Amino acid sequence: MARVLITSELPPSATDPLAGHELVRQGTDVDAIVCQLTDRFDAATLGRYPELRVLATVSVGYDHIDVDAATAGGVAVCNTPGVLDETTADLAFGLIIAASRLFAVGEADLRGGRWTGFGLLDRLGRDVHGATLGIVGYGRIGRAVARRATGFGMTVLHHGRRPTGAPGFVDDLDELVARVDVLSLHVPLTDETRHLVDRRRLALMKPTAVLVNTSRGPVVDEEAVADALETGRLFAAGLDVYEREPAVHPRLLAAPRTVLLPHMGSASVATRTAMARLACDGVRAVLAGEIPANCLNPSVLNTK
Ligand code: DGY
Repeated sequence: MARVLITSELPPSATDPLAGHELVRQGTDVDAIVCQLTDRFDAATLGRYPELRVLATVSVGYDHIDVDAATAGGVAVCNTPGVLDETTADLAFGLIIAASRLFAVGEADLRGGRWTGFGLLDRLGRDVHGATLGIVGYGRIGRAVARRATGFGMTVLHHGRRPTGAPGFVDDLDELVARVDVLSLHVPLTDETRHLVDRRRLALMKPTAVLVNTSRGPVVDEEAVADALETGRLFAAGLDVYEREPAVHPRLLAAPRTVLLPHMGSASVATRTAMARLACDGVRAVLAGEIPANCLNPSVLNTK
């Protein structure tokens, strides 16, 4: 029986794969950890768990884990790819519509008593149908957003680090940014993607364009986004993620034509349950001497 540290409460039944192991909520003498994206595991933190064999995060993103340090320490790292794509794409598409059509402006006016009756020229947004969508990062989630966009009659362009071979690929990110009516981000956070959408790229966008970010906050320069919204250089933004979560830049909170959500892209009952279960199953597999498909550094297991 191994000791497994669960850092936060998980949905009921998610820990079923770990039956037979001892589940604990604190301590450092553990063989395995199931963590969240809010738990940072750098080299120093990993060093506090001398017995650790596997660290599984209940997230597909793993920018909060120093995988190289884990590998050096012989710790397998697992994440949750595949099970959250459609749910996250649903939310991204929701933000595309909500931001383009000024849902937050309309709701705030209604709740604030500023709706005095139908006004032909009030709260005029941008059409989603027929618009051109630019997807940055054409992985599973990006492609799921593209499928939804097709149903709305959008023209879909995409950019990735390597040619995808799929129709609509644009090699030059600057060109994509300049061509689209909606830009939706679906890249992991890495040194290369930090501030991918910076002041310079925002200036390339059409002033009528909409920016949607459901990936990681630091992929965009929030200060520059706030400037662009305030000056009308950007029509609207729909954001689910932030540079310093859970803090939200005060200028974004005050920015016009902005829909802000609290990092809830994968937040459905079924998907969060599937994510937690997949993370726990990764732990189970490593503890059983298997190499799970959701292991990010299987070389650690191959050499044992
Ligand atoms: C992830 O999994 O990385 C998302 O940000 C939360 O589901």
